[in-house]
Amino acid sequence: MILVTGGAGFIGGNFILDWLSHSNESIINLDKLTYAGNLDTLKALEGDLRYRFVQGDIGDRALLGRLLTEYQPRALINFAAESHVDRSIQGPGEFIQTNVVGTFNLLEAVRFYWNELPANEKEQFRLLHISTDEVYGTLEAATPPFTETNAYEPNSPYSASKAASDHLVRAWHHTYGLPVLTTNCSNNYGPYQFPEKLIPLVILNAIAGKKLPIYGDGKQIRDWLFVNDHCDAIRCVLEEGVVGETYNVGGWNEKTNLDVVRSICALLDEIKPRVDGKSYCEQIVFITDRPGHDRRYAINAHKLERDLGWRPKETFETGISKTVNWYLENSAWIQNVTSGAYRDWVQQQYGA
Ligand code: NAD
Ligand code: DAU
Repeated sequence: MILVTGGAGFIGGNFILDWLSHSNESIINLDKLTYAGNLDTLKALEGDLRYRFVQGDIGDRALLGRLLTEYQPRALINFAAESHVDRSIQGPGEFIQTNVVGTFNLLEAVRFYWNELPANEKEQFRLLHISTDEVYGTLEAATPPFTETNAYEPNSPYSASKAASDHLVRAWHHTYGLPVLTTNCSNNYGPYQFPEKLIPLVILNAIAGKKLPIYGDGKQIRDWLFVNDHCDAIRCVLEEGVVGETYNVGGWNEKTNLDVVRSICALLDEIKPRVDGKSYCEQIVFITDRPGHDRRYAINAHKLERDLGWRPKETFETGISKTVNWYLENSAWIQNVTSGAYRDWVQQQYGA
């Protein structure tokens, strides 16, 4: 079996569903259930004997130690993190606690477990750490995309905390020999993403007749990857990746934020036209920029393609269409996550 952390979040939840649709190997999910964790995402697995949920913190070394000893997983995939840049600006403490201290505790629990394994299991065990392209900092318009050898230059409390966690993972490999793999991925989108992030926020605000807030001039660039393609890449790195290596994962889909928002509006104009016949683009507003906002991220994912044969399957057009339709068809999931705490965040971040 394998153990994942943070499996009630966006990517981890999609990963668990994806894993069990490809394999009968059991999966155990350790998640603290912060505001971003939602067990509704995994409702379809109720009664599925291949899946088990445990509520807990990756920083709880004793709990993690017990789970590892009891279930003897052949791999652990660490998705658990505080993940939203804007929240890291408003309150960085939790980011240091989970992403840095939590990862340290997780590494120690795994190290003690791994040390005691019989030689053949020790050889086979893998710890896969899920990280982000934001650790590389920001790019100028004409600079080549990030490769795995780019220097780490994180600019936000979030990316600095993720960079710190990557460094810890690297050090536990070099010092203790822990068999680790790290992936650095670009912006994911798709079903079950918490609507604090740009794409779901814009879809839900649009159909609710609310404003579509664009930070600064909206010309910042991100590379977008459909979440199932990321799940595919993770399975590929877990099975084929070379221990100690890092792999960039990206969608070859660089877009400005304004273009992303306009594509969503165009899709909604077709699928669910406004009653006044105008475009959803009318709801776009430009608001104060995010402090320290990185201008451009772009990923060079050639290493993963060349060494392990992975390429994304979705184009931005197919992925965004699936995503918009999913949000239109899943109002129960949306209602559950947009409860009081979510409304408080929106009020705090965007005001009236
Ligand atoms: P998310 O915020 O949707 O989910 C995070 C999950 O981790 C939640 O279920 C939460 O309850 C859980 N969690 C938080 N703190 C925890 C703790 N201390 N112990 C146990 N569980 C805890 O995040 P996501 O978007 O699914 O991102 C998953 C991982 O992928 C993160 O490490 C993130 O840095 C990385 N990543 C995300 C993206 C993206 O675009 N979303 C891109 C690249 C990398
Ligand atoms: O690059 C990978 C990263 O992508 C992940 O590591 C993070 O966990 C994930 O949250 C994401 O970070 P971003 O900051 O790029 O994602 P977000 O959806 O918050 O914002 C995308 C872009 O849209 C960014 O340039 C900021 C802008 N934005 C965002 C929001 C929420 C707006 O213009 N308005 C908004 O209201």
